[in-house]
Amino acid sequence: MILSPSLLSSDFGRLEQELKALEDAGLTWVHWDVMDGMFVPNITFGPPVIKRLRKASKLFFDVHLMIREPERYLTDFADAGADLLVVHAESSPHLDRTLREIRRLGMRAGVALNPSTPVCALENVIDLLDLVLVMSVNPGFGGQSFIRQSLSKIRRIADMLRAADSKALIEVDGGVDPDNAPELLRAGAGVLVSGSAFFNFPPYAERLRTFALSCGTQGGLPVAPAL
Ligand code: DX5
Ligand code: ZN
Repeated sequence: MILSPSLLSSDFGRLEQELKALEDAGLTWVHWDVMDGMFVPNITFGPPVIKRLRKASKLFFDVHLMIREPERYLTDFADAGADLLVVHAESSPHLDRTLREIRRLGMRAGVALNPSTPVCALENVIDLLDLVLVMSVNPGFGGQSFIRQSLSKIRRIADMLRAADSKALIEVDGGVDPDNAPELLRAGAGVLVSGSAFFNFPPYAERLRTFALSCGTQGGLPVAPAL
Protein backbone atom coordinates (compact mmCIF):
# COMPACT_ATOMS: atom_id res chain seq x y z
CA MET A 1 0.00 0.00 0.00
CA ILE A 2 1.27 3.43 -0.91
CA LEU A 3 -0.39 6.44 0.69
CA SER A 4 -0.14 9.63 -1.36
CA PRO A 5 -1.37 12.59 0.73
CA SER A 6 -3.11 15.26 -1.33
CA LEU A 7 -1.64 18.69 -0.62
CA LEU A 8 -5.00 20.22 -1.54
CA SER A 9 -5.93 19.78 2.13
CA SER A 10 -2.57 21.00 3.49
CA ASP A 11 -1.64 24.50 4.64
CA PHE A 12 -0.72 26.34 1.40
CA GLY A 13 1.12 28.98 3.42
CA ARG A 14 3.54 26.38 4.75
CA LEU A 15 4.02 23.98 1.83
CA GLU A 16 7.74 23.55 2.42
CA GLN A 17 7.20 22.61 6.08
CA GLU A 18 4.31 20.33 5.14
CA LEU A 19 6.53 18.42 2.71
CA LYS A 20 9.21 18.06 5.35
CA ALA A 21 6.66 16.88 7.89
CA LEU A 22 5.42 14.21 5.45
CA GLU A 23 8.95 12.98 4.85
CA ASP A 24 9.73 12.94 8.57
CA ALA A 25 6.53 10.97 9.19
CA GLY A 26 7.66 8.22 6.80
CA LEU A 27 5.59 9.04 3.72
CA THR A 28 7.22 8.37 0.36
CA TRP A 29 4.73 9.94 -2.07
CA VAL A 30 2.90 13.27 -2.23
CA HIS A 31 -0.07 14.10 -4.49
CA TRP A 32 -0.25 17.51 -6.22
CA ASP A 33 -3.71 18.53 -7.48
CA VAL A 34 -3.19 20.97 -10.33
CA MET A 35 -6.47 22.74 -11.23
CA ASP A 36 -7.03 25.36 -13.89
CA GLY A 37 -10.52 26.74 -13.17
CA MET A 38 -11.66 25.36 -16.55
CA PHE A 39 -11.57 21.57 -16.49
CA VAL A 40 -12.60 21.85 -12.84
CA PRO A 41 -14.02 24.91 -11.04
CA ASN A 42 -11.04 25.57 -8.75
CA ILE A 43 -7.57 26.97 -9.41
CA THR A 44 -4.61 25.75 -7.35
CA PHE A 45 -0.94 25.88 -8.36
CA GLY A 46 1.25 25.12 -11.37
CA PRO A 47 4.80 24.28 -12.42
CA PRO A 48 6.61 27.23 -10.73
CA VAL A 49 5.33 26.26 -7.29
CA ILE A 50 6.18 22.59 -7.82
CA LYS A 51 9.63 23.48 -9.16
CA ARG A 52 10.44 25.62 -6.16
CA LEU A 53 9.35 22.88 -3.75
CA ARG A 54 11.14 20.14 -5.68
CA LYS A 55 14.35 21.52 -4.20
CA ALA A 56 12.98 21.04 -0.71
CA SER A 57 11.78 17.45 -0.97
CA LYS A 58 12.83 13.94 -1.92
CA LEU A 59 9.25 12.66 -1.95
CA PHE A 60 7.90 11.02 -5.10
CA PHE A 61 5.93 13.81 -6.78
CA ASP A 62 2.63 12.38 -8.01
CA VAL A 63 1.14 15.18 -10.13
CA HIS A 64 -2.55 15.02 -11.03
CA LEU A 65 -3.44 17.44 -13.82
CA MET A 66 -7.05 18.59 -13.74
CA ILE A 67 -6.55 21.00 -16.60
CA ARG A 68 -7.68 21.47 -20.18
CA GLU A 69 -5.17 20.76 -22.94
CA PRO A 70 -2.58 19.15 -20.64
CA GLU A 71 -0.36 18.40 -23.67
CA ARG A 72 0.63 22.08 -23.74
CA TYR A 73 2.35 21.85 -20.36
CA LEU A 74 4.17 18.49 -20.31
CA THR A 75 7.65 19.98 -20.63
CA ASP A 76 6.92 22.50 -17.89
CA PHE A 77 5.96 19.76 -15.46
CA ALA A 78 8.99 17.67 -16.42
CA ASP A 79 11.22 20.70 -15.76
CA ALA A 80 9.43 21.28 -12.48
CA GLY A 81 10.46 17.80 -11.32
CA ALA A 82 7.26 15.75 -11.50
CA ASP A 83 8.00 12.04 -11.12
CA LEU A 84 4.58 10.89 -12.30
CA LEU A 85 2.27 12.93 -14.50
CA VAL A 86 -1.41 11.97 -14.62
CA VAL A 87 -3.69 13.40 -17.30
CA HIS A 88 -7.45 13.01 -17.56
CA ALA A 89 -8.77 10.91 -20.44
CA GLU A 90 -11.60 13.46 -20.75
CA SER A 91 -9.25 16.38 -21.41
CA SER A 92 -6.72 14.65 -23.65
CA PRO A 93 -8.14 13.67 -27.05
CA HIS A 94 -4.72 12.49 -28.28
CA LEU A 95 -4.05 10.31 -25.27
CA ASP A 96 -1.65 7.98 -27.07
CA ARG A 97 0.58 10.87 -28.12
CA THR A 98 0.34 12.57 -24.72
CA LEU A 99 1.37 9.44 -22.80
CA ARG A 100 4.28 8.73 -25.14
CA GLU A 101 5.47 12.30 -24.69
CA ILE A 102 5.26 12.11 -20.89
CA ARG A 103 7.49 9.02 -20.93
CA ARG A 104 9.86 10.53 -23.47
CA LEU A 105 10.33 13.44 -21.07
CA GLY A 106 11.46 10.97 -18.39
CA MET A 107 8.33 10.87 -16.24
CA ARG A 108 6.01 7.99 -15.38
CA ALA A 109 2.67 8.27 -17.19
CA GLY A 110 -0.82 7.95 -15.77
CA VAL A 111 -4.40 8.40 -16.92
CA ALA A 112 -7.25 9.52 -14.67
CA LEU A 113 -10.89 8.60 -15.25
CA ASN A 114 -13.79 10.66 -13.93
CA PRO A 115 -16.55 8.67 -12.20
CA SER A 116 -18.72 8.75 -15.35
CA THR A 117 -15.95 7.70 -17.75
CA PRO A 118 -16.03 4.02 -18.76
CA VAL A 119 -12.97 1.83 -18.34
CA CYS A 120 -12.84 1.16 -22.09
CA ALA A 121 -11.16 4.59 -22.39
CA LEU A 122 -7.99 2.75 -21.30
CA GLU A 123 -8.26 -0.10 -23.71
CA ASN A 124 -5.98 1.17 -26.47
CA VAL A 125 -3.32 2.79 -24.27
CA ILE A 126 -2.69 0.09 -21.67
CA ASP A 127 0.88 -0.51 -22.83
CA LEU A 128 1.70 3.16 -22.25
CA LEU A 129 0.51 3.28 -18.65
CA ASP A 130 2.45 3.20 -15.40
CA LEU A 131 -0.66 4.05 -13.39
CA VAL A 132 -4.42 4.42 -13.68
CA LEU A 133 -6.09 6.96 -11.40
CA VAL A 134 -9.70 6.13 -10.56
CA MET A 135 -11.55 9.25 -9.44
CA SER A 136 -13.92 8.21 -6.67
CA VAL A 137 -15.44 11.71 -6.46
CA ASN A 138 -16.08 14.25 -9.20
CA PRO A 139 -12.81 16.20 -9.35
CA GLY A 140 -12.42 19.77 -8.17
CA PHE A 141 -12.80 19.74 -4.41
CA GLY A 142 -11.49 17.97 -1.35
CA GLY A 143 -13.71 16.56 1.36
CA GLN A 144 -16.40 14.93 -0.81
CA SER A 145 -18.04 11.57 -0.17
CA PHE A 146 -16.63 8.43 -1.73
CA ILE A 147 -18.70 7.11 -4.69
CA ARG A 148 -19.11 3.40 -3.98
CA GLN A 149 -19.52 2.42 -7.61
CA SER A 150 -15.76 3.06 -7.87
CA LEU A 151 -15.10 -0.30 -6.24
CA SER A 152 -16.44 -2.35 -9.14
CA LYS A 153 -14.63 -0.02 -11.53
CA ILE A 154 -11.33 -0.74 -9.77
CA ARG A 155 -12.00 -4.48 -10.04
CA ARG A 156 -12.69 -4.19 -13.76
CA ILE A 157 -9.53 -2.18 -14.35
CA ALA A 158 -7.49 -4.68 -12.31
CA ASP A 159 -8.85 -7.44 -14.55
CA MET A 160 -8.01 -5.47 -17.70
CA LEU A 161 -4.46 -4.82 -16.53
CA ARG A 162 -3.95 -8.45 -15.56
CA ALA A 163 -5.24 -9.65 -18.92
CA ALA A 164 -2.85 -7.29 -20.69
CA ASP A 165 0.04 -8.39 -18.46
CA SER A 166 0.46 -4.77 -17.38
CA LYS A 167 2.29 -3.81 -14.19
CA ALA A 168 0.49 -0.45 -13.98
CA LEU A 169 -0.66 0.54 -10.51
CA ILE A 170 -4.22 1.57 -9.70
CA GLU A 171 -4.55 4.76 -7.66
CA VAL A 172 -7.82 5.87 -6.04
CA ASP A 173 -8.57 9.52 -5.36
CA GLY A 174 -11.50 11.07 -3.50
CA GLY A 175 -13.17 10.35 -0.19
CA VAL A 176 -10.55 7.77 0.81
CA ASP A 177 -10.19 7.15 4.55
CA PRO A 178 -8.98 4.39 6.89
CA ASP A 179 -12.47 2.81 6.83
CA ASN A 180 -12.73 2.26 3.09
CA ALA A 181 -9.00 1.76 2.47
CA PRO A 182 -9.03 -2.03 3.07
CA GLU A 183 -11.78 -2.71 0.51
CA LEU A 184 -10.03 -0.47 -2.01
CA LEU A 185 -6.86 -2.51 -1.65
CA ARG A 186 -8.81 -5.76 -1.92
CA ALA A 187 -10.43 -4.48 -5.12
CA GLY A 188 -6.97 -3.98 -6.64
CA ALA A 189 -5.81 -0.48 -5.71
CA GLY A 190 -2.12 -0.04 -4.87
CA VAL A 191 -1.98 3.71 -4.23
CA LEU A 192 -4.44 5.60 -2.03
CA VAL A 193 -4.74 9.38 -2.27
CA SER A 194 -6.02 11.06 0.85
CA GLY A 195 -6.59 14.77 1.42
CA SER A 196 -8.97 15.71 4.21
CA ALA A 197 -8.88 12.31 5.93
CA PHE A 198 -5.11 12.67 6.22
CA PHE A 199 -4.25 16.33 6.81
CA ASN A 200 -7.11 16.97 9.24
CA PHE A 201 -5.73 14.30 11.58
CA PRO A 202 -2.21 15.15 12.68
CA PRO A 203 0.32 14.03 13.73
CA TYR A 204 1.05 12.62 10.30
CA ALA A 205 3.12 9.64 11.48
CA GLU A 206 0.19 8.53 13.63
CA ARG A 207 -2.28 9.00 10.78
CA LEU A 208 -0.09 7.00 8.43
CA ARG A 209 -0.03 4.25 11.05
CA THR A 210 -3.82 4.32 11.31
CA PHE A 211 -4.13 3.82 7.54
CA ALA A 212 -1.50 1.08 7.57
CA LEU A 213 -3.10 -0.77 10.50
CA SER A 214 -6.57 -0.57 8.98
CA CYS A 215 -5.14 -2.19 5.87
CA GLY A 216 -3.48 -4.92 7.87
CA THR A 217 -0.03 -3.84 6.85
CA GLN A 218 1.01 -3.86 10.52
CA GLY A 219 2.64 -0.49 10.84
CA GLY A 220 4.45 -1.67 7.75
CA LEU A 221 4.92 1.76 6.47
CA PRO A 222 4.11 2.35 2.84
CA VAL A 223 6.83 1.09 0.64
CA ALA A 224 9.26 3.08 -1.42
CA PRO A 225 8.01 4.23 -4.81
CA ALA A 226 7.05 1.12 -6.72
CA LEU A 227 7.15 2.86 -10.05
C1 DX5 B 1 -10.15 16.09 -6.03
C2 DX5 B 1 -8.67 15.83 -5.92
C3 DX5 B 1 -8.30 14.99 -4.78
C4 DX5 B 1 -8.66 15.57 -3.43
C5 DX5 B 1 -9.00 14.45 -2.50
O1 DX5 B 1 -10.41 16.77 -7.20
O2 DX5 B 1 -8.18 15.19 -7.09
O3 DX5 B 1 -6.93 14.64 -4.80
O4 DX5 B 1 -7.67 16.34 -2.87
O5 DX5 B 1 -9.45 14.99 -1.32
P1 DX5 B 1 -10.25 14.11 -0.25
O6 DX5 B 1 -9.34 12.98 0.15
O7 DX5 B 1 -10.53 15.07 0.85
O8 DX5 B 1 -11.48 13.61 -0.94
ZN1 ZN C 1 -6.09 14.32 -7.07
